Formats: sequence, C-alpha cells, structure tokens
Amino acid sequence: MLLPSVIMALIFCTYGEKNPAVQVILTNKGLQYGKTVAADWIQENLEFVTFPDMDGEIPLSFLGHIGYTLTGVTIAKCDFPEPSIEFYQDVSGLKMSIVGFSIALTGAWRAHCGIIYGSGFFDMALFGVDLVSVVHLGSDADGHLSLTNLCDAVEELIVNLDRHLQAMNVTFQVNRDLILDLPLTGQPVIDASSLRLGFQGEFYSIKRPKEPPFEAQLFVVPEYPAYMLSMGLSDFTFNSASFGYFSADLMQIFIDDSMIPPRSPVHLNTRSLGPFIPQLPKMFPDLPVVLHTYARNFPVFSFHPGVITLNLPGAVKAFAIQPNATWTPLFKLHVDSNFKGKMWTDDGFLKGSVTMDNFTLTLVATVIGPFKTAALENLAKMAMKMFVLPYINDKLSTGFALPQTTQALLVNSVLTVEEGFVAFCSDAKLQPSDRRLS
Ligand SMILES: *[C@@H]1O[C@H](CO)[C@@H](O)[C@H](O)[C@H]1NC(C)=O
Ligand SMILES: *[C@@H]1O[C@H](CO)[C@@H](O)[C@H](O)[C@H]1NC(C)=O
Ligand SMILES: *[C@@H]1O[C@H](CO)[C@@H](O)[C@H](O)[C@H]1NC(C)=O
Repeated sequence: MLLPSVIMALIFCTYGEKNPAVQVILTNKGLQYGKTVAADWIQENLEFVTFPDMDGEIPLSFLGHIGYTLTGVTIAKCDFPEPSIEFYQDVSGLKMSIVGFSIALTGAWRAHCGIIYGSGFFDMALFGVDLVSVVHLGSDADGHLSLTNLCDAVEELIVNLDRHLQAMNVTFQVNRDLILDLPLTGQPVIDASSLRLGFQGEFYSIKRPKEPPFEAQLFVVPEYPAYMLSMGLSDFTFNSASFGYFSADLMQIFIDDSMIPPRSPVHLNTRSLGPFIPQLPKMFPDLPVVLHTYARNFPVFSFHPGVITLNLPGAVKAFAIQPNATWTPLFKLHVDSNFKGKMWTDDGFLKGSVTMDNFTLTLVATVIGPFKTAALENLAKMAMKMFVLPYINDKLSTGFALPQTTQALLVNSVLTVEEGFVAFCSDAKLQPSDRRLS
C-alpha cells in the first residue's frame, strides 16, 4: 500500500480544484471476485454465441479476386481457461491474461471467382492461444473514468466499454430537491493491491444551485484488504445536502395544534401557554397559536470516531390567529440545539440512534413584552425527549436498506465513523444479467 501522503498527492492534485468527498477502493479481493464472476459468465454463455455473416475478398494477383461469405458460424467447442487479472502499477491500470485458450468453430461457406461458384461447410480450430491485455485507467476532463488499451487483442471491446463509460452520467437526481454531482476529481490511483477513485460527492439544490461556504477536507480511507470494497464518505457530502435544502428554503415548518399529540399536557393556544407566558392570555384570550419553525443557518454535521454531531441553529416565530384569520406576530425565539448520533450497519440495513445534547431558547424579539424562557425551554426539551426523538429513533432503529440491484448486492458490510468521514467496507455479490454475448 502506498503511503497516505503519496496517495493524497496522486488523487487530489490532478485537477487542483476540489478534494474528493467520496472515495472508493477496489481491493485485490474485489478484483479477483469480479474476474471469477465474469469468467463463469463468459464460459456459460459461449455456447450461445452466434457470429454475424462475414464477407471478404481474397485478391489473386492477375485473376481478379475470390469473394467469400461465411454464414451460420457457431462455436463447436471452447476451452476457456481461468484468466488472470492484476493491478498493474507500471501503466496505472489492469493486466489481464489468458493462457491456452482454444476454440473450434463450424459454419458454412460460399465463394465465387468470376463466374465460378462454390459452397460447403467448414470446421476451424485455434489451439493454445495466449492473450495478454493491458488497460490503462484514466479520467477525462468531465470526470468520467476512461479506459485505453495498450495492445490490440481486445481493442474493440475496450473501445466499446470506454464509450459506455463516457456516456455515463456523473450527475444524478436524488429526489425532487437535490442532485448529486459525482465526477472523478483526479486520476485513478493504482498500486499493487488496490484501485482508488476519488469523486466530488457534492449535493446541490435543484432550485437554487450554489457553492456552499465550506470545502471538502482531505482524508484518506484506510484500505481493508479483507473486503472487496472500501468507501469513505466525508462529512462534506452530508453538509452539502444540508446546505442544499437550506438554500432552497426547505428547512421550515409551520406547527399548529393539529400536529400536537392529543395526550400532550400543553396545546398551541394562548390559554394553554399562559403558565409559561403570563401576559399572553391576557392580551390575546383564547386564540390558536402557530409556530413558524425554521433553520437560521444550515445544520452542520461533524464526524468523530464513533460519533456524529449535528449542530442545528433554529428559530421560532410565534403568531396568534385572529378570528378574522389575521396572523398577529407575538415573539421570536432562537433555538440552538446539538445532537449526538451513532450509525452502524446491521444485516443489510443502515441503522442509527440520536440523543439530544444541548437545547437552549433565547428570546430575540417580542411584541408582547419580555418573559422568562426557562419554563418554555424545559417544556420544549420535554417535547423533544417525549415525542420527537422517540419518533426519529424508531425510524432509525428500523433502518434503511443498503442500496442493491438485482445484479449486485452488498454483503458483510461494516460501517464505522472516523474523524471527518464515515468508512464503509463491504463484500459484494454479483449476479450478471442474462444478456447474451454477441
Ligand atoms: C443522464 O441524465 C440525463 C439528464 O438528466 C437523462 O435524460 C438521461 O436519461 C441520463 N442517462 C442515464 C444513462 O442515466
Ligand atoms: C383582524 O382582526 C384584528 C384584531 O381584531 C384587527 O386588528 C385586524 O385589523 C383585522 N384585520 C382585518 C383584515 O380585518
Ligand atoms: C450548550 O449551550 C450552551 C449555551 O449556548 C453553551 O454554552 C454550551 O457550550 C453548549 N454545550 C454543548 C455541549 O454544546
């Protein structure tokens, strides 16, 4: 394994613009597993291969030429030995080889030379072919992975794969509100035991895309050779999502009494709030109250070994609703809260738990005169502990399924929270699609 500083220099300095917030490491275990799956798939599918008709001409120096067509060419027998594949540091790529490949083809031929025609069947065999292919992995200016082949044997295949890679999107729409930008931030880094890729990993608001006032910090994901894949996800990625929601004004909610659980001892009306704000029921008897609750700034996640903290700078504007539906402003509070959370994987699910660390209310504006916030603060803390946190923890303990497709499944996944990032390592189970070779 390369020294972390060398890796940093290699992954991070190529374009000199952004540090990668998402890093992915493919280990040798992953590479060998991918090879085995691909080789089995090729072996199983070779018998279904059909070749298109092939036309050609053989020039005969002064007699003109012989034109021929080969039709119905199929593989009669094929010996496809276990290929080998390794990370190839010299060219920053992969080296693949097959030794002793043999194939027997059968088919029909037609030929003509001037007015002479002929036709028949043929059998053809190639024995003991050795194929070696070296592929260089790079990245293009738009942050796509690119492949270039350093010898001709499988050139067409590599060109095709490269075309697919170039056509792949590096920006994904995540939901109605956010897109995720995931181009490579630099060249892939290959050493004898792994392939490392660095991605931008930045969320943007679709409605108001803009750069956040913070940057991804450097970090290096340790390589876990016992797993096929390791991945590191910086707190930057989480905070860019937070910033995206905040800049699109999505971090706000109007809370009215219909959202308060019926068993709550306190309800959102001027009478029920009297014990906390004595002048309120006197000035506005028996009116419903609505709380406009919003983030004053974007919530900030920070990751430390074993723990995630969330700092949420919020505010509440309280209104009394007059009988003629006019909203009369009452007061404004700042609500500053800190949360601590844990995150882990359990049997294919991402799970977590949250506790509240700190919760303070500060009166910053009032049209009903000053009042003490201590009792209100205790009430809000109690509401958080009795209703909000249990609701969130219930969702987190059920967890969220790790992403999977019918072709790829993550197994044996382990997640740990490190300084500045979460590390995720996993094995994968691949089930190649039934698409036939052609
Ligand atoms: C790539 O993104 C464009 C625009 O968002 C979309 O129309 C297209 O279907 C995407 N292609 C793939 C392969 O996901
Ligand atoms: C609604 O009622 C309030 C309080 O009685 C009053 O101050 C306000 O002017 C009224 N607004 C309208 C639009 O009638
Ligand atoms: C809790 O908030 C108070 C007041 O804002 C602050 O002084 C204190 O440092 C905070 N504690 C933690 C653990 O963040």
